[in-house]
Amino acid sequence: MRSRSRHSWVGSAGALLFVLGASACGDTAPSTLHPEGPGAHRIAGLWWFMFWVSALVVAVVTALILIGVLPGRRRRATHDRATPRWAGRLVVLGGVVVPVVVLAVLWALTLSDMSALSLPRRSIALKVQVVGHQWWWEIRYPQQGIITANDIHIPVGLPVEVELTTDDVIHSFWVPQLTGKTDLISGRTNRMWIQADRAGVYRGQCAEYCGLQHANMIFYVVADPPDRFREWMTREGQGAATPTETGALRGQEVFLSSACVGCHTIRGTDARGKVGPDLTHIGSRISIGAGTFSNTPSNLAIWITDSQSVKPGNLMPPIPLSPADLEAVVAYLEGLK
Ligand code: CUA
Repeated sequence: MRSRSRHSWVGSAGALLFVLGASACGDTAPSTLHPEGPGAHRIAGLWWFMFWVSALVVAVVTALILIGVLPGRRRRATHDRATPRWAGRLVVLGGVVVPVVVLAVLWALTLSDMSALSLPRRSIALKVQVVGHQWWWEIRYPQQGIITANDIHIPVGLPVEVELTTDDVIHSFWVPQLTGKTDLISGRTNRMWIQADRAGVYRGQCAEYCGLQHANMIFYVVADPPDRFREWMTREGQGAATPTETGALRGQEVFLSSACVGCHTIRGTDARGKVGPDLTHIGSRISIGAGTFSNTPSNLAIWITDSQSVKPGNLMPPIPLSPADLEAVVAYLEGLK
């Protein structure tokens, strides 16, 4: 009884810290306690049920301990050592029957939620393939021939199937506000589904340690209203537009004659590298370096010049360019909307 109460206290203190920590992070931090999709709603519902059951168990055990250590009762116990008849029954009830019932109920609810999370209630509206790389996410829309990176656009309110594979080590795909995490495992394809009930941007994170830059393996699920999603899909399906502005045009020339083309593809040009992210529409993406920075011209310039200083260990080498060429390449890439 004593050791059980200690564990319950540790559990409740942990839960309290978690709740305080989650609420202190503010609206932008992804939290499973702010669900925005049917999968995350089920997980949050189960979490709160477990929390209140645990809180009740802690309260009851604490009350029993307090009753047991009250000075008046201890004095009486030293005078009368006979164990009352109900004491044995209390141990069996509180130590065996109640825990078995509580754990069986939680197990059954967990199984029911796991089953619900494995398949959506409605038919799949869209298929997206996600390939994990150290340390970025390749995003493919096989039916539309779209390849992008780190931003996953989906139509709001509809279930989207996500097919997960990895190019190297194990990663884990997790958008806390939409659903639970699923691993990307070498040699196999895992499937899961996501759905956002409200239009918005939901931050996702690799949730399996995968090397030096595991923490900087971030992605964004962008849930668009139907017409904006169709617009995005049409634009994304096209190749890169040839720049009209002189600086950007010069940037395209520099890009296509540099080492960049060995690793990156820009559809509609001779850049056909497959090592790094497809840059066809990089100007419209939220971040650079899989969530390392926001996508601004100055951050992109730092990234091109020396990405190792800001995301050590990534595969991109420093690209030595004159200040004028750098400015032109940045103008070209940021113009690829
Ligand atoms: Cu990929 Cu951690």
